[in-house]
Amino acid sequence: MHTPKITVIGSINMDLVTLAEAMPKQGETLSGESFKTLPGGKGANQAVAAARLGAEVHIIGKVGDDPFGKTLIDNFESQGVKTEAIGIEAGVSSGLANIIVSDQDNRIIIIAGANGEMHPDYIDKFKKRIEASDYILIQFEIPKQTVEHILDLCETLDVPVIINPAPAMQLDDAYWAKAAYITPNDTEAEKLFAYDTDGLPKFQDKLVITNGAKGASFFRGDRMITVPSEKVEVTDTTGAGDTFNGALAVALAEGKALEEAVAFANKAASFSVQKLGAQSGMPKRSEIE
Ligand code: RIB
Repeated sequence: MHTPKITVIGSINMDLVTLAEAMPKQGETLSGESFKTLPGGKGANQAVAAARLGAEVHIIGKVGDDPFGKTLIDNFESQGVKTEAIGIEAGVSSGLANIIVSDQDNRIIIIAGANGEMHPDYIDKFKKRIEASDYILIQFEIPKQTVEHILDLCETLDVPVIINPAPAMQLDDAYWAKAAYITPNDTEAEKLFAYDTDGLPKFQDKLVITNGAKGASFFRGDRMITVPSEKVEVTDTTGAGDTFNGALAVALAEGKALEEAVAFANKAASFSVQKLGAQSGMPKRSEIE
């Protein structure tokens, strides 16, 4: 089978993960159960998910010139993600995510750090890499003008782009129109595409909407098709959406039809929620099959 070539352009974070019995309320101090530093960032997670499933994966991103930056690059190398397009930004911290995991859910605050230094001219250095890819996968933890530049560039180079619009950020319709697929969760879909109203959401022919344990939906014409997920024991949902996106890109690059690709991505995501940390539970190909 053709080895899928995926290039992820996006964020690389160190996740500072606190496990607690409950979320603290405003002004409240609680004792937590444990604390871990774990590799994360939506871009990084999607790259690792796709690599574990057997794709050739490159990441275009930036880390700071701090100890976390080195650890994050080492992590990609151990996961088989190609790191030639990772820049080390002097005098800037690596991206950070403060995560509290509690009651099968999470709350996250991110500090962009080096991810905020991903400017359009940096992307242009990797035109050949982008052109050689079956799919480009992007998220919204890098500057908006860079997202828009990537969409323009990929249109010129005729390379399909999957946009995972997380965290939610509005783009002009002309930019959404350049995506092959858009993969919001249900909350992002409500905010960005009027998914909650009676009529059809905007760009419904491009949408693949994830809905946690319920599975994921897409539209065939004006009919919504929902592909349910398997029920599993949930430890931590952090990175489940990223696992879904990485797996979806792999399946589509392999030529799977959308419904089959969504089922494959659902299955991958159902593995990821069973372990603490964004990347720890991402499955290998053999586990899914
Ligand atoms: O999607 C999960 C990711 O969001 C975490 O790994 C964290 O870094 C934030 O970017």
